[in-house]
Order: sequence, then C-alpha cells, then structure tokens
Amino acid sequence: MTRTLAAGATVSIASARANASKARFVKILGISCSPREGKTTATSIKASLDAARQVDSRIKVELIDLGGLEISGWSGGTKATEGRQKTDGFDLILPKLRDPNVGGWIIGSPVYFRSMSALCKVFLERCAVLRKPTLLLADTAVGVLSVGAFRNGGQELVIEQIQSVLLCHEMMIVGGKPGAHQGATLWNFANDDITKDEFGMDTARKLGIRVAEAALRLSLKKA
Ligand SMILES: Cc1cc2nc3c(=O)[nH]c(=O)nc-3n(C[C@H](O)[C@H](O)[C@H](O)COP(=O)(O)O)c2cc1C
Repeated sequence: MTRTLAAGATVSIASARANASKARFVKILGISCSPREGKTTATSIKASLDAARQVDSRIKVELIDLGGLEISGWSGGTKATEGRQKTDGFDLILPKLRDPNVGGWIIGSPVYFRSMSALCKVFLERCAVLRKPTLLLADTAVGVLSVGAFRNGGQELVIEQIQSVLLCHEMMIVGGKPGAHQGATLWNFANDDITKDEFGMDTARKLGIRVAEAALRLSLKKA
C-alpha cells in the first residue's frame, strides 16, 4: 500500500486508522460522469476507490457509472419529478445517493471542450433534490477527478467547475496528497488505456486516500 503513496501519507493514514477504531462503517461512492461506460473516467475512479478502501477496513466503496443512463437536467418546479412525465436514470441511483452510510464521494468527468460533460452537469443539477428538506450532502468529503485527451486539456478547469457546484451542498472538498492537490488529473494518451498514464493514476490514488481519511474523520464528528 505505502509504496504508491507520497511522502508523509503514511503518517496521516496511521492517524486515520487510529481514529477509525471509533468510526462507524463509511461508504465512499465513486461517480463516473462519462457517457462511455467503463472507459477512462470509470477506470480512474476505480483506482481512487481501490486506494480509498486500503486506508482502513471500515471503508466500503461502490462505483456508480452513469455511462449508459439517460438522465435529464432539472426541469423546473420545486420537486425533483416536477415537469417530467417519467422516471429516468437519476431516479434509479437516487437511493444510493441518499444512503446515510455514505461519507465520501469521488466524482469524475471527462473534459469536453474544457468543461465538464453534459452528463455531469445534468447529474449535478438533479442533485438539487438532495438539498431539501436538509442539506443531505453537507459535511460529506468529496474529491474530484478529470480525464482529458490532452496533457493540459482543461482537467483542472473541470475539477474547479465541479467543486464550485458541490460547495452549494456544503460538501467538504478535499484534494489529494502532494502532486494532486486540486484533485486527480489524468491524460488519455494511449487509446483509452488510462493505466498507461502512471502520473495520472498516481493522482487518482492520492485522491482516494485523502477522501478516505477525510470521510473517516468527518464520520467521527457526526457520530
Ligand atoms: C465532445 C468532446 C470534447 C472533448 N474535449 C476535450 C478537451 O477540451 N480537452 C481534452 O483534453 N480532451 C477532450 N476530449 C477528450 C476526452 O476528454 C477524453 O477522451 C476522455 O478520456 C474521455 O473520457 P471517457 O474515456 O471516460 O469517456 C473531448 C472529447 C469529446 C467527445
């Protein structure tokens, strides 16, 4: 585990582990916002989740891949379903988002024209339903990841856009360990084999570790 970590990570993992003996089980959701199911964004998030799981045995992880789901944007009104005639993909995953055991999110989007994907935007709009009657996501740790086909293709811009939205939920935004301070930035230069981007995969792991540590600490405060 420690061989993939940045210097200094070992100490804080030890302290998170010590605290974890008092924490309840904490779930971390990975949310992949690429319409291409199981591709580079989903693979990168899986690497983050794997690293998160290794921080402590009380960390449970689950990937929600939005690829293949039809999700409409917010349609107006005061209820999630208002203005829509039928349920869609968002309704299918809503129970997972409402799970009280969720203490952390790792959300990722591909870069589309230096912005988040449309799927990511509609997902975030629909998460408005999680703000009422109380801010369900408040004090949930969240780290953001982005994948682009270019080295400086806009990954950090996308991370910032998503972080701005999540501030409206009073989520606790974290970056990763050194080298990934804003979040995980990945470069898809090898025909969708994102594991070839060793630096980027390392940022994904560092993000997962940081989210796991923060989720454990926040869970102690909530207990
Ligand atoms: C419409 C569109 C716009 C894109 N714009 C950018 C861009 O601005 N910068 C970039 O680095 N990559 C861009 N890409 C490439 C994707 O971000 C990249 O292929 C990414 O790995 C796709 O994620 P996925 O494999 O999870 O679907 C774009 C791709 C598409 C389809």
